[in-house]
Amino acid sequence: GVVVASLLKETGLVTVDPGFMNTASCESAITYIDGDEGVLLYRGYPIDQLAERTSFLEVAYLLTHGELPSADQLSAFTERVERHTHLHDNFKALIGAFPENAHPMAVLSSAVSALPGYYPESVDPFDPETVELATVLLLAKAPTIAAYAHRRALGQEMIGPDRGRGYVADFLRMAFQPNGTIWEPDETMVKALDLLLILHADHEQNCSTSTVRIVGSSHANLYASVSAGINALSGPLHGGANEAVLQMLTEIQRSGGDATEFMRRVKNKEQGVRLMGFGHRVYKNYDPRAAIVKKAADEVLSALGKRDEMLDIAMRLEDIALHDDYFIERKLYPNVDFYTGLIYKAMGFPTQMFTPLFAVGRMPGWIAQWREMVNDPATKIGRPRQVYTGPTTRDVAPIDAR
Ligand code: ACO
Repeated sequence: GVVVASLLKETGLVTVDPGFMNTASCESAITYIDGDEGVLLYRGYPIDQLAERTSFLEVAYLLTHGELPSADQLSAFTERVERHTHLHDNFKALIGAFPENAHPMAVLSSAVSALPGYYPESVDPFDPETVELATVLLLAKAPTIAAYAHRRALGQEMIGPDRGRGYVADFLRMAFQPNGTIWEPDETMVKALDLLLILHADHEQNCSTSTVRIVGSSHANLYASVSAGINALSGPLHGGANEAVLQMLTEIQRSGGDATEFMRRVKNKEQGVRLMGFGHRVYKNYDPRAAIVKKAADEVLSALGKRDEMLDIAMRLEDIALHDDYFIERKLYPNVDFYTGLIYKAMGFPTQMFTPLFAVGRMPGWIAQWREMVNDPATKIGRPRQVYTGPTTRDVAPIDAR
């Protein structure tokens, strides 16, 4: 990229680096990405092995504590998380006060902002036990809040958590159980959502994670930092892309399913038409998460008996892109969001729940990165400089002379 440099009196040389393309904001031992090779490791473990051999709470433990848990550590951690999944009645009232058409991301970020108001004993960034409590509370309450936000949008009564069913299974039950009946999610659904949450659990210094770190660098508490991250995630160029992909596929389907015509518009850069779910700042090769999701989408849709024409449209788009110079030259491949929405849709989630699901998955990553930052002696308050381009000093004229 273009680098503009300037000499500042106080600090010497500064460079302008739009989008921080060439700036590392920190040192980190959590997640490794090789964008050219399409490699993703959490704490050294390849994402495909984690996806196959672990559960989401194991990955949450790995990211936040540095090592995979033993069986005893995992059961103690799970038990502790499950003990905190319920929400205070006043807290439910807070969620209930939102209009039904409120976007669940607005509900989720507001509710996470409100948590320190209800749990003031868990806000000290420098006391390890307090931080552990805040970690557990966030992991525990995120699915309950997301499920409540989902029901709120449907005008349905909220259903409370029920311990011992499993983190993901109970989340799905809270979201989908019809009022007044007993309902268990299908095992295929539980496994698929667990997998998707693992794939979203961390992705080093992306937009929302950098936001969490910069907010936390002011010594703001974990909840305040994470709620800022949720808001960053809501944008369509970041976590909001999963929602945008489904809107795009819906539009293509409505207008007759012509993938070639849509790709022509993308390549002509018609009014900012982009192939949503394609391209990535770091991956210049197939996103390894997208490869896993693509396979899962095919399997899950078949297992749930929800064969979807939109999956065929998505595959056609990908096939065109993989053989088209526009995409080849720019190294644009499917990212994690390209196929996830189709699985969420098959599970029964409305489009506006897709990004909240991403947020539930990313929670361990945000927490781990915040914890690493707090414990890093090199951390300073995040305060970038600028290269000033405005007027030089001038005098203020009286209002009638302007
Ligand atoms: N469709 C069409 N063209 C694209 C796309 C796309 N999805 N992505 C990038 N390009 C083109 C750009 O127009 C640009 O072309 P040019 O050189 O002719 O001007 C070139 O590829 C480089 O793109 P940039 O926008 O400069 O790349 P950047 O690294 O800044 O952006 C981003 C990365 C935001 C992910 C981009 O690829 C994009 O908008 N993708 C669609 C949205 C999306 O899927 N976001 C999810 C990201 S993953 C995540 O958050 C989990």
